[in-house]
Amino acid sequence: MIKGVIFDLDGVLVSTDELHYKAWKQLALELDITDFTKEDNQRQKGVSRMESLEVVLSKGSRIFTDAEKLVLAERKNSYYIELLQELSTEAVLPRVVETLTMLRERGILIGVGSVSKNTPLILKRTQLESYIDKVSCGLDITRSKPDPEVFVVAANKLGLEVDECLVVEDSAAGVVAAKAAGMRSLGVGPEYKELEADYEALNFNSNIHWDNLLKA
Ligand code: BG6
Ligand code: MG
Repeated sequence: MIKGVIFDLDGVLVSTDELHYKAWKQLALELDITDFTKEDNQRQKGVSRMESLEVVLSKGSRIFTDAEKLVLAERKNSYYIELLQELSTEAVLPRVVETLTMLRERGILIGVGSVSKNTPLILKRTQLESYIDKVSCGLDITRSKPDPEVFVVAANKLGLEVDECLVVEDSAAGVVAAKAAGMRSLGVGPEYKELEADYEALNFNSNIHWDNLLKA
């Protein structure tokens, strides 16, 4: 019986992928990497800031020390935070608020499981905080998805066993992480068919059979 649903943040609750892309693109251009594309950006979904940086650097030939990489990641984050200042409730994806409200009315606990260290800022700017019981994010963990840590921490914070939680994800790394945590998953987003999640839906406007999902 599912007692909690743990939502990924970027691409599931809010639309931030374009902002991540813009910030990484700016950094890439500064490093003379001109062919960083949206396809490369897809490989950054669900993985940590430092791993995302490696995706950018793999497109160039320059070698950086670990200390230099930290500076580059911090620089990208400063561009991203600048873009996040524009974020508002408009970035909340369709039917997210209705879905969170419906689940809470059924007595389901709501968690967020995201590797983003900007999760608190994003939840604040999009006014989603009040719909969420517990947040597990990049500030709570040492290992990024596909490691299950972020979801296990979320379950612990919610006071639930892993098999009482359902994960909603839009990234392959996130679905692998959910499986590794022993949780069932609902895959959403443009690549929902390729995620190999237990359940699939393009978005929250789709006909999701929550009764079945919550019974599992
Ligand atoms: C994930 C995104 O949610 O957060 C990744 O899908 C991103 O693309 C990761 O790299 C880390 O985000 P942040 O905000 O900590 O740099
Ligand atoms: Mg995501």
